[in-house]
Order: sequence, then structure tokens, then C-alpha cells
Amino acid sequence: MTAALKIPAAMDMSAYWLPYTPNRYFHEHPKVMQSAKGAYYYDDHGRKLFDGLSGLWCSPLGHADPRIGAAINKQYQTMDYCPAFQMASEATFTLASRIAKMAPQGLDKVFFTNSGSEAVDTALKIAIGYHRVMGNASRTRIIGRERAYHGVGIGGISVGGIVANRKMFASMMMPGVDHLPHTYNLSQMAFSKGQPTWGAHLADDLERIVALHDANTIAAVILEPVQGSTGVIVPPVGYLQKIREICTKHGILLIFDEVITGFGRLGANFGADRFGVTPDMITFAKAITNGVIPMGGVLVRSDIYDAIMAAGGQEQAIEFFHGYTYSGHPIPTAAAHAVLDIFESDDLINRAKALEPVLENALHALKGQSGILDIRNFGLSGAIELDPIAGKPGLRAMKVLEACIEGGVLVRIAGEAIAVGPPFISTPAEVENLISVLGDAVDDAMKLS
Ligand SMILES: Cc1ncc(COP(=O)(O)O)c(C=O)c1O
Repeated sequence: MTAALKIPAAMDMSAYWLPYTPNRYFHEHPKVMQSAKGAYYYDDHGRKLFDGLSGLWCSPLGHADPRIGAAINKQYQTMDYCPAFQMASEATFTLASRIAKMAPQGLDKVFFTNSGSEAVDTALKIAIGYHRVMGNASRTRIIGRERAYHGVGIGGISVGGIVANRKMFASMMMPGVDHLPHTYNLSQMAFSKGQPTWGAHLADDLERIVALHDANTIAAVILEPVQGSTGVIVPPVGYLQKIREICTKHGILLIFDEVITGFGRLGANFGADRFGVTPDMITFAKAITNGVIPMGGVLVRSDIYDAIMAAGGQEQAIEFFHGYTYSGHPIPTAAAHAVLDIFESDDLINRAKALEPVLENALHALKGQSGILDIRNFGLSGAIELDPIAGKPGLRAMKVLEACIEGGVLVRIAGEAIAVGPPFISTPAEVENLISVLGDAVDDAMKLS
């Protein structure tokens, strides 16, 4: 028998099944947000909470910027929807061009989706479709990585590497997937500032996988340049370069899943720019609309697009049987244009870059504190690894989150880690306060056993 839920009389929580949330615990310990402005949320206890993870990594410009609201409203008055198939709005073309201009050279085509999960599944389809039209129909295998999060589509969970996301759905997994090892090694890289120096050799595992399956069966490798959802796992120096070289050598496409790292989080337009490694496709979502309204997409190398067009048959025939009712929807398109305008006018990527050392210094100042096994950071993102409570996985992290809320900041639980990724509009003092509250919260949570 489960205990009766203590649902506050004022709020009926019975119908809403919360995503990626321990629902039973939530009903006992609800966290209800009421409004958001700038870098702060306001909850139902009247608390002002610094948004230490930019929503879910999706709101780098803070909340309720009137320029985004005005653009959405104007678009609503002008055209609230345009059929996504067989027609398009002009602003969707200009948005695609704008995103392509921000991307590494050669990634000139954009396929719009509504989320990161859809972007991932779209990229996997493009990879397999491309090899097929190139006469390499045997190239169907996709290589993901342990600890990867690529959303919740069937493709995304198959190439993803988080066991909790996979085990319940094992029978639905896409066939023909293999995984690279993750690069996290506490004994070799604890308390690294920025990229760990150990671990580039882990990329060589791709050669082992190629030897096992044969290159002619492999369509693509998909990786997050920095693994965000499993707690900001930063790639070792030289690792991504090696992966790129091995993919190129064997004719395997490389997809960077930049749903978190795209649009400035790493102090550059894309992680690809920051690491100096150009993939063949980039998935994006989240920050493109500042989280205001759903949108995602895939940046694709032109010759991949050209090959699929060339194989399209008669001119009136559809070349690629894929798309969403809301692909390139005019309202998120208008929001995205406004967001990119703000990135430019407010120099936000440089502001994120300038905050990187502030976050790094504040985080690493926690080194030596009881209960903190590791501290890592890259760009305007970072995490601390907690010493878990024996036999109670995730409880320490939950208690840290709750103590942070008491202290006036929001952070994100990532397994036994706590992740932070403040908005680009934050002040240095706000970033320092975020980490100081986090340190106190760990002290509080260490009193539990
Ligand atoms: C790297 C990565 N890919 C895909 C996704 C899925 O995005 P969405 O939740 O928009 O489907 C996420 C979400 O956090 C992500 O971090």
C-alpha cells in the first residue's frame, strides 16, 4: 500500500503525470513555479529563485524579455500557422539561412523540428537515407556513447547511453546500435578545470567497433560534445578530434548533438566551433527560442542534402519522406529571429564567455568540501559530483536541490551530480552567489545519512 498523498487542498495534483520527475516524491514535496522575469523564478512560497540552469538549459537570455514576446505577438497577428508541407513562410527561409551562417562552414541546410528528441531522430534518418542514396544501403548501424542523452524518441533512447532510459523499453530499441565508452573517470580527471588531459585514447574504441562490425555497416556516430544531462562530462583534450579523424577515414558521418551546447553555452555559436571539430550534422533546440516556445532542428552538410535531392526522382516527387506538422512553424520562427537579434544586439555569447572564469573559479573554490567528489566545468556550465547516501541513490542530490531552493537558487539534479548553467545575462555576483548557496546546500545535505 502506498501512503496517502499530501496534496495541498488548493491544488489538484491528481491528473498531471510529471515528466522525468519522481511523481510520488513530488506530491509530497511539490515545487511549483508561478512566474519568471530576467534571471529569476518566483515560486508559490513567494521565494525569488535565481535560475541556475537557465530553465532546462534552454533560457540563456533569462525570462520574459519583451522583445521575444512582441515578435511572437506580431507574428500571431500576421499569420498564426502556415502548412509545413508544400509551403512555407518567408521568415522560415531567412531563419534557416541565419542559423546556417552561424554554423561551421559547410553545414548549410536546416531541417526544422519541434524538439531535441525529434532533431536527433531526424538526423539519424538523414544519415541512413544519405548512405542509401549513395549506394551504401548496408550502412545502417549507428554508434552512440555510454552516458549519452539524445532525447526520448526511439532513435534517441537507442543511441543514448543512460540505462534508466533504456531498460523499460528494451524491446522497442532500434536494432544495429553500438556504443562508445563514456569518457568519465573519477580517478583520472577529478577536479579538472575545463577539458581533462586524460582520455583521448578512449576515441580509439571507435576503431575497435569498426573492426567488429565493418565500416560498410556503419552510418553515423552521434555524440554530445559535452554530455550535459549526465552531469557536464567534458571531452578529454584531443578526443573529439580523434573521433572526427576515425569517422572521416571510414566514411562514417559524425553528428554532434548540440541541443544543450548550441547557441552560446560553450562561449561560441556551437560546441563544434569551440572545439575546432566540424561534424557532418548538428542537432539543436532549446536556446534557439530561449525556451519560450518549442523548436529544434538539424544542420546538415550541403552535399548530404544535394545527394538526397539528386536521388529524388521526378521533380514533383518528395525527396525525403519526413517532417512535422509544426516544422518551421511561423511563431517559433518569429521567436527564434528575436532571440538571434538579442544575441547580436546584447553581445550575449561574449557575455557567456566572460562569465566562464567566474563560474570556474567559484565552483573550484568548493574543492575540499566534505561530500564533493569532483568538480568540472566548461563554457558556462559546470557540475559537482556528490558522495551519495549509501543505499539511497539520488537522495543526496534531491536534498541539495531542496536546500538550494531554500537558499534562493535553482540547480539541476543529474544522477549523483548537481549541474549548473546560469543565464548569459547573469552578473558575476549572481554566479558567485549561486555557487556559494550550492556549497552551503551540500553542507546541509551531508548531515543526512
Ligand atoms: C543533448 C540532448 N539531445 C536531445 C535532447 C532532447 O531534447 P527535447 O527534450 O527537446 O526533446 C536533450 C534534452 O535535454 C539533450 O540534452
